[in-house]
Parts: sequence; C-alpha cells; structure tokens
Amino acid sequence: MNKGVDQKDHLAREYSDWELFKRLMSYTKPHIYVFFTALLAMFLSTFLSVLQPLILAIAIDDYILAGNLDGLGFISLIYLLVGIVSFSLNVIASYYTTLTGIRIITKIRQEAFYKLQDLSMDFYDREAVGRIISRITNDVERLLNLLSTGIIDAIVNVMFLGLLFFILIYLDLKLTLTVFLIFPFLAAFTVFFRIKARTAWQKTRRALAKVTGYYQEAISGISVSKAFAVEDFMAKEFQELNLENYLARIKALTIFAVMFPIMDIILAFGTALVLFVGGVAVGTASLSVGVLVAFLSYLTRLAQPIMTLSNFYNNLLSSMAATERIFDILDRNPSVVSRDNKVLKSVNGSIEFKNLNFSYTPDTEPVLKDFNLKIDAKKTFAFVGHTGAGKTTITNLICRFYDFTQGEILLDGTDIRDLDLKKYRDWIAIIPQDSFLFSGTIRENLRFGSPTVSDEDIEKALLKVGAFDFVMSKGFDFQVGERGTRLSMGERQLLCFARAIISDPQILILDEATSSIDAHTELVIQQSLHNILKDRTSIIIAHRLSTVRMVDRIIVMEAGKIEEKGTFEELIKKEGIFADLYKKQFTVKHSE
Ligand SMILES: Nc1ncnc2c1ncn2[C@@H]1O[C@H](COP(=O)(O)OP(=O)(O)O)[C@@H](O)[C@H]1O
Ligand SMILES: [Mg+2]
Repeated sequence: MNKGVDQKDHLAREYSDWELFKRLMSYTKPHIYVFFTALLAMFLSTFLSVLQPLILAIAIDDYILAGNLDGLGFISLIYLLVGIVSFSLNVIASYYTTLTGIRIITKIRQEAFYKLQDLSMDFYDREAVGRIISRITNDVERLLNLLSTGIIDAIVNVMFLGLLFFILIYLDLKLTLTVFLIFPFLAAFTVFFRIKARTAWQKTRRALAKVTGYYQEAISGISVSKAFAVEDFMAKEFQELNLENYLARIKALTIFAVMFPIMDIILAFGTALVLFVGGVAVGTASLSVGVLVAFLSYLTRLAQPIMTLSNFYNNLLSSMAATERIFDILDRNPSVVSRDNKVLKSVNGSIEFKNLNFSYTPDTEPVLKDFNLKIDAKKTFAFVGHTGAGKTTITNLICRFYDFTQGEILLDGTDIRDLDLKKYRDWIAIIPQDSFLFSGTIRENLRFGSPTVSDEDIEKALLKVGAFDFVMSKGFDFQVGERGTRLSMGERQLLCFARAIISDPQILILDEATSSIDAHTELVIQQSLHNILKDRTSIIIAHRLSTVRMVDRIIVMEAGKIEEKGTFEELIKKEGIFADLYKKQFTVKHSE
C-alpha cells in the first residue's frame, strides 16, 4: 500500500500568505459587526487587566503605606470589579469570535461540498479520497482555530504589550530599561523555539496524514486483506507509520516541555534584576514600594503574550498552508461544462457518435479510436467485447462524466456538449457496473433520483425488475448499510435496476447490470426486459452473451474499435468474433 499519502499535498505556491490571508478574512465580511464587537470587548478587557497592577500600586502607596486604611476596602472593591468586568468582557469576546469562526467554517464546508459535487470525474481519478477528506476536516478545523481565537489573541497581545510599554515608562524609566535587558534574550529564544517547534509540528502533521491515509485504505480494503491473510503484515506496516508519528510527537512534546522552564528562567532572571535594582531604588527612596510591586506583577504577565504571539506566527503559517489547500479545491472548475445550456423539450432518443477519439489522460493511447455509430431512437443496442475494450468508456461519455475534444456525440442531432448538463442527464438513467447504494433505507435509495414518486410506482417498478418479493421480505425501511453492504451484490443490482426504472428515462444504460444476479432472477428480468426497454433507447453492456439475443443490434468492440455489428442471428451466421465468443461461453457453461 502507498505509505506516502501526503506527498502530493504540498502545493506549488501560487499565492502569497498575505493574499491567502486577505481572502480568508473576506469571509468575515457578513459578520463584520460581530467581529468588531468582539474585538472591542477584547480591547476593553485587556485594557482593564493592564490596569490591575496599577491599582495595586495605588493601594500600596496611597492607602497601605500612607495609613489610609478606611479607603482600602473601596480600592480593593475596585480591583475586584475591574477583574470581574475584564473577565466577563473576555468571555463575551471569545464567544463572539468563536461564533464568527464557526460560521465561516460552516460556510466553507458547504461551499466545498457544492464544489466537490460539481467537479468532474477526472478530478476524482487523480485525487485520493483521504486527501480530500483531510482538507475538508483537518484543514478547515485549523482555520477555526485561527479565526476564533488566533487572530483576536494576536491583536490583543500586541495591544497589551504596547500598552504595557507605555505604562512601564510612565511608572519608572530606569526600571523599564532594566526589564528591557531581558528582551533580547526573550526574543532570541522565542525565534529559536519557533523554528524548532515549526519543523516538529510539520513532521507530526505529515506523519499523522500518513496514519490516517493508511487507516482509510486499510478499512476500505479490509475484505481483500482478510482474504489474502495479510492482516499481520498490514499491521506491521502500520506500526512503522504509527511509530514515526509517535516519535515526531515525542520530539514536539520535548521541545515544548523544555521551552516553558527556559522561558520561566529568563523571566526569573528579569524579576531578580527588577527586585534588585528596584529594591535599591526603594531603599534610596527614589521609587515607591507600590510601583515596584506593580512592575513585578507586570513581569509575571509578560511571558504569556510573548508566547501567544510566537505561537500565533506558527499558527498563521500552518493555517495559510491549510487555507491554500482548501482554496485549491474551491478554485477548481469542473472539466465538463455545457457550452450553450440548451434545453430539449422532448427527446426522441437517437444517439450518434461521430469520429470520436478519446483518452482519459492526455498523451496516452486513445481508449476510443475514430468511433462512429448511430444508435437509433427507441432501439436496444448491446455492446459486447473483452474487458478493457472501452464499453464503459462509451457510457461514461454519453453521460458526460468525462469531456471529449475530438469528434462529437449527438442526441437527436444536437451536440450533447451544447446541452444543459443537469437537464440533459435527467433524460438518462444508468445501472452502473459497481452497483452503488447510499446508506439509508431501501425506500430512500429507490427515491434517490425521483423524490416525489409514489409508493405505488415504486412497487410497479419493483415488480417489473423482479425485486418485489425480496424488497417485501426485507421491508421498505430496511437499512442497506454503507454502500449497501448489508445486501447481496445481486440484491444491490436489483435495487439499482429499480431505481433507474423509477425515473422513467428516455435513455437507459445497463453496464453489466445482471452480472451478479442469479440465473432465476435474471430470467425474471429477461422476461420483463421487453417491457422495461420498450419506448426508450437502451444500451446494454453484457457479459453473458445469452442475454443479448433479443436486442436490435449487437456491437462487438475490441480495443476501442467496432469490429462487428448486426443482429444476433447475423453475427452467429457470420462466424466472426462474436460467434467465436458465444461458442466459447456456451461450451464453458456446459462443461462446468
Ligand atoms: N478513469 C479512468 N482513467 C484512466 N483510464 C481508464 C479509466 N477508466 C478506464 N480506463 C481505461 O480505459 C480502457 C477501457 O476501459 P473500459 O471502458 O472501462 O472497458 P470495458 O470495456 O471493460 O468497460 C481500459 O484500458 C482502462 O484501463
Ligand atoms: Mg466496463
């Protein structure tokens, strides 16, 4: 299994951090009042908390030391009130900034969901599911962190440090300069730490991405690994990744564990310095005790904003990387679009391929080569041929799952690329090779494309495809499980069959739709197939050649080209590829 899931997740830098930041901040526009209210509350809260040591100084100098004990109660009360108001404002501010953050990420998640629904199949061929999900979950969550507390905290702490600076100078210049002696150390240490912590976190993030990626693939492929009995091997492989993640985390942990004591030591050094210089000044009566206490109190409050600011920088950088990954999805455009948004009022159902050349990726051998064919309206055409011949590709192109540039496909004479995509697809129903059901009840799945259909019509469709008895025995409200895993393959195919019929399409595509259905049920479907296919254009891709006896025309494909076409009788008589394939299947069946 691929253990390097995150390798491609580092995008070539297209936007600067500043551009990304501006774009992210544009999301605050609808919440601008809330955002600024929060900012204002935070500012007031900070301002009040900066006042507290000043009140302390006044209490000591003007009341305690001056012997004015009557007023001490009052000043203590003020200290308390300032504390309460400051704290309350802080709570309000945090609440509203987080609220803004939650609103923004909810919006981004919704936008990303629309986008992901809109993007064409080629996007999903290229991108690993795990990586997309990681962007929508981890990366978006990271933004919440930045938006809710990160930015406001940073602004407030800058304000706090600025305010502090002026207050300290106002209180005593000499002592302020003493405090500032430790600043170069603090700054140097913070920068050093920031670099260390950043690389450590990057490593943990990457290791974690690998862990989640491996988990995801292991869970989706669980039955395969069980069948090959490689569970132990997989667990061992996972152990390596897990260990890598573990070690990366321990490293980050160590850095943080060492970091705080060192910060404390530097601050203790500053405190000692202030205590000494300030103490001497108090002794020589050039400084009051209250101011000294205020200084010491301010020193204890210095560590937190400096730490927060340096963390903010890390947070900002990683958030910008996450933002870039999210915008990368939001900025993508579906490769398949309508050229003209034409809407057909009614559809007869003739499909014509003209000189169609197609390959899934540029510079590779085309999967369809100069493909020409007319499927007449209301007729049933069967495509047969070896695996990889290009049968599913044809249906992919009819459904416009992929764009094509050479040649054309016409529906009743109109190029399908000119038609409104959604309206066009409304005419089509497909029963795909991998019968996919959504988790939910049988009823919900049957109503998937036609939410308003009545229970009676559902029952009629079930009878038609021979699924009535099985659905009745389970009940309409039976939970099918994720991807329909609580049903057998054949049952899933029957439901897909019914789901397609219910939408009453003009064009019906069956891609090996009966390959997992037992012979008896297939017979039931065969019998009603005539009814199902009547009055619409149908394309049947069939593996079992016995099922194509009654179609109007059989197209035999090989390596992206039509090798033979004709009715069943004609092709058998011709004794070509089809007759050969048929004979082989027939003899294999009988020798089984
Ligand atoms: N999504 C895809 N991306 C790239 N190549 C593809 C994709 N789907 C199919 N192919 C290639 O196109 C060829 C035809 O595939 P397909 O039309 O599915 O064959 P089949 O006749 O079995 O339905 C195969 O060689 C296959 O490898
Ligand atoms: Mg196929």
